[in-house]
Amino acid sequence: MDKLIIFDTTLRDGEQAAGGGLNMSEKLEIARQLDRLGVDVIEAGFPANSPEELETVRLIAHEVRSPVICALSHANVSAIDKAWEAVREASSPRIHIFLSASDIHLSYQLHKSREQAMELAQTAVAHAKSYVQDVEFSPMDASRADPSYLYKLLEIVIEAGATTLNIPDTVGYAIPCQFGDLISGIRQNVSHVDRARVSVHCHDDLGLAVANSLEAVKRGARQVECTINGIGERAGNASLEEVVMAIHTRKDLFPFSLNIDTREIYKTSRLVSDLTGFPVQPNKAIVGDNAFRHQSGIHQDGMVKEASTYEIMKPQEVGVPGSSLELGKLSGRKGFRERLGELGHELSEDDFEVAFESFKELSGKKKRVTDKDIESLIAQEKRAASELYHLDQIHVSCGDHDIPTATVRLISPEGIPLADAALGTGPVDAVYKAVNRIVGVPNKLIEFNIKSITEGLDAIGEVRIRIESEGKVYTGRGASTDIIVASAKACLNALNRLLADKGLKGASR
Ligand code: KIV
Ligand code: ZN
Repeated sequence: MDKLIIFDTTLRDGEQAAGGGLNMSEKLEIARQLDRLGVDVIEAGFPANSPEELETVRLIAHEVRSPVICALSHANVSAIDKAWEAVREASSPRIHIFLSASDIHLSYQLHKSREQAMELAQTAVAHAKSYVQDVEFSPMDASRADPSYLYKLLEIVIEAGATTLNIPDTVGYAIPCQFGDLISGIRQNVSHVDRARVSVHCHDDLGLAVANSLEAVKRGARQVECTINGIGERAGNASLEEVVMAIHTRKDLFPFSLNIDTREIYKTSRLVSDLTGFPVQPNKAIVGDNAFRHQSGIHQDGMVKEASTYEIMKPQEVGVPGSSLELGKLSGRKGFRERLGELGHELSEDDFEVAFESFKELSGKKKRVTDKDIESLIAQEKRAASELYHLDQIHVSCGDHDIPTATVRLISPEGIPLADAALGTGPVDAVYKAVNRIVGVPNKLIEFNIKSITEGLDAIGEVRIRIESEGKVYTGRGASTDIIVASAKACLNALNRLLADKGLKGASR
């Protein structure tokens, strides 16, 4: 069977998405999970962007050893040098060079002729090749480029040593049959094309990124570039989980071997959503909350009689945790520990005790504690472990004739209790004002979302927010059966990330 390479660019193109804002340790955590998922290549970043990005790619290259670690680079010597510096310690390093190929980009953005661009591409690939065997080249905006020029450009970079030819549909303009023809054209018209692997990189502006990628695979592409949950520039990139599960489910049409452990998909999707703050829409294929839910009577009837009537994949295949009653008030340490293990969480003794306390508290409030609740609880504990400020107490008073008032007590990084109170237009506003009075770092709330993790009035509410400070965006998440407490936790989570990023400790008292 032919192998299909899954190239994940969540940490580069995905992170590029407006307000992504992941810090170094979060990127490493995602890279480790991508490794467990089994992606072949991790595009870890764009080192020429900033010294921090270079450091992050270097850290991932050092720590994550199974996949190829790739760094993106402009087609110039200094950017390539930075890319190499970042990936040189990887067990399998790759440099990925991109250069505009369409006339629109060449004339309005690069201000270069086709001949000048070909020379730049040739020099850049040859320079990268002097460092590393594995060099990828992307003619940006390829789907709007003149195919005959594209063929020449690709021949030049193959000659210079490119081992992967990545064909991007940068602006998501392509339509499957036309994109497929482009891939077939490249395979038929580019001399020595068999010296390199053809790859595709599709954006989702017309909602066709996955369809275009699959058509390209049918026409001979053997690497697909994609992101978890499809995050990325504008409408995003081809979604990894959709590409992988289409190939996995339709082996009859796609007889390829994949290195992916599909059971890690759901966990990876949650992690990326949690850390980036980009929610997954409920009807999102494969990983959305409703992806495996059968609502209508006729569907439910079919499912009870024989699951294959309405189910083409099993939720377990992508690692969706069971949503039925799993643990109740009477479940003890042993049951909780076993369930954690089954869900893939290995906690130290201390962390286990903290998690178990929270679990007991939750099962006192909630009739049924489900796997989704446990996942949320563990994510909450992880966030709390790296906090500078902790939420200690909160009291809110509100109502249709009351002025919403919040009193909040936090524990400072030095362990000192700090309390303050504020009035607001509503209880959440009052809480945010009180928290901000204590922490004392200027910021603006730019987004607030709330959703319940499971059904029922006793469900855990999850709040996601974004705050902005000096042009940078920070996300925050908090979960609790009380939505005001969840809001306070989300506010603190975002502020703690802001403080950590700026190396601050907040207002001194
Ligand atoms: O969309 C695009 O063209 C890219 C390239 C850098 C590959 O992201
Ligand atoms: Zn892209």
